[in-house]
Amino acid sequence: MQRGNKAGSLEPHPLSAAFRRFRWAFATAGLFSCFVNLLMLSGPLYMMQVYDRVLTSRSIPTLVALSVLVLALYVISGLLEHIRSRLIVSVGNAIEQDLRRPVFSRMLDNAIRRTSDSGTQPIRDLDMVRQFHAGPAPFGLFDLPWAPIFLAVTYLIHPVLAALTAAGALILFAIALINEFAVKSGSQIAYAAQVEANMIAEQSMVASDVLHALGMKQSYADVWEDRHRRAVEQQRHAANRAGIFSSASKTVRTAMQSAVLGVGAYLVLQSEMTAGAMIAASIIAARALAPVEQAIGNWRTYLSYRQAKARLRQMLTPNVGRSGEPMRLPRPAGHLRLDGVAISAPGAAKPLLVNLNFELRPGDGLGIIGPTGSGKSTLARTITGIWPQLAGTIRLDQAEINQWSAEQFGRYIGYLPQDVTLLGGTIEANIARFDRDPDPEAVIRAAKLANVHDLILKLPDGYNTRIGTGGLDLSGGQKQRIALARALYGDPVLLVLDEPNANLDADGEAALSTTLADMRAAGAAVIVVAHRPSAIKSMNLLLYVRDGRQVAFGPKAEMLAKLGMAGPADRGVSLSVVGE
Ligand SMILES: Nc1ncnc2c1ncn2[C@@H]1O[C@H](COP(=O)(O)OP(=O)(O)OP(=O)(O)O)[C@@H](O)[C@H]1O
Ligand SMILES: [Mg+2]
Repeated sequence: MQRGNKAGSLEPHPLSAAFRRFRWAFATAGLFSCFVNLLMLSGPLYMMQVYDRVLTSRSIPTLVALSVLVLALYVISGLLEHIRSRLIVSVGNAIEQDLRRPVFSRMLDNAIRRTSDSGTQPIRDLDMVRQFHAGPAPFGLFDLPWAPIFLAVTYLIHPVLAALTAAGALILFAIALINEFAVKSGSQIAYAAQVEANMIAEQSMVASDVLHALGMKQSYADVWEDRHRRAVEQQRHAANRAGIFSSASKTVRTAMQSAVLGVGAYLVLQSEMTAGAMIAASIIAARALAPVEQAIGNWRTYLSYRQAKARLRQMLTPNVGRSGEPMRLPRPAGHLRLDGVAISAPGAAKPLLVNLNFELRPGDGLGIIGPTGSGKSTLARTITGIWPQLAGTIRLDQAEINQWSAEQFGRYIGYLPQDVTLLGGTIEANIARFDRDPDPEAVIRAAKLANVHDLILKLPDGYNTRIGTGGLDLSGGQKQRIALARALYGDPVLLVLDEPNANLDADGEAALSTTLADMRAAGAAVIVVAHRPSAIKSMNLLLYVRDGRQVAFGPKAEMLAKLGMAGPADRGVSLSVVGE
């Protein structure tokens, strides 16, 4: 197992660490397998003794003694196999338990950084690793190294028979190798098609309303079916190929068993060995070949397991650069400063925004305006630490925002995204950001600030109303206000609201203005992205962005005058079109 990782960091790879932790268990299972395999000799040896000793001596006591002995050996063998199986099943579970949180968080990180297009597949991969340990496949691998024991015993019975068995093992081994190459690429293509089909299916769940209303169900089903069919076809190919090798190996194994018997009979006729030895040799030779045959039969399972493990290893590779826990910093006052900031979409080199320079003090309120596609939401995503900046520095108080741990930073800021998504759960849990131990008073305070408290009380179960999958469907404005309450939960020092008034009625907008004024008065820095002037009424600063550039920044009234937007700004008139 490898120490560290390709990137050269000293941190051990989490996957290697998880497996290394159970090295003792694999070693124990290996040792047990040795005994289990040795004990498998008891059947054929018993048979040999009965033939050659009991039948010739006609001694009943010998028969009874041998039978009692072999029965005891069977029981011991059964017990050992059971313990071995339990051990490997629990190791699978423990490895899954070790890795499930890291896999989940890395999956989220990859989604945020747009570095992976495999959706929730890593969870399925991890489950496959667990299920592999719970199935019969690992024992084929554990038995394989002990096949030479049987070969050695066959050799003791007669060297010619051992040579024959060894030849059979070589043929099976060759079959296994060809199998690996024949099945591997097909199963990878099948996997990729399956992931794509799953993603399409997941998306169709989210967009089910639109698919229905616009009569797209059939055409989108075609898209899904196309990918799914490709996956199934490839899986069928792989299964067919694997089937050929599996049947071939079975044929070779049974033929070998008979060949050993036939050659054995010849040797008996030449008086080179006894009839009992002949039968025992045939059974033992079959045992020597059985693990190889079993391995070939399970080849596709091994392959999927190995591929799942390789994908997990890649996705869990520790990041270079930042190591260890980020510093814990004291609660900031809410002083935000951007110097020469440029931003691109994750993974893209072309900047979407360049050369941003502005500063907010605690209690300041900044309105960000600009045409559609000018980069306002991109800026909001970067200030909240979702997307990293390409150049420049963003500081909250004196610390750069990437010095904070995401968890701690998140507690001090409030963010309302342009596309509001609430998560499946109660309204209370949503507002409390799924805190394990939410503070009901803080939840109610946030809800009141967001002007949504009365509305929640009117719902069937009040704050305990379940929303999201299987729960209540809320209106767009209701969702937006609950999301605002979530942003306000925990008294954030920096509030970033992306089009908070998009779904609000006139009363809602007026209430929002009051809330934002209150937040500012309480010392929070507030940033509001808006199209409509009413949303930035309670702001004192204005930033105008166009084509990814900072066109103007300064006191709001001054900037509006400079941009030719001064005067009574009409509700409903889009600010972003003025000044074009
Ligand atoms: N993941 C991404 N990859 C590449 N480009 C992106 C990505 N996300 C956004 N963009 C581009 O960034 C530009 C700015 O988008 P952004 O969402 O910031 O605009 P906006 O000012 O918020 O517009 P609107 O007023 O419509 O909300 C757009 O041209 C968009 O296509
Ligand atoms: Mg936007």
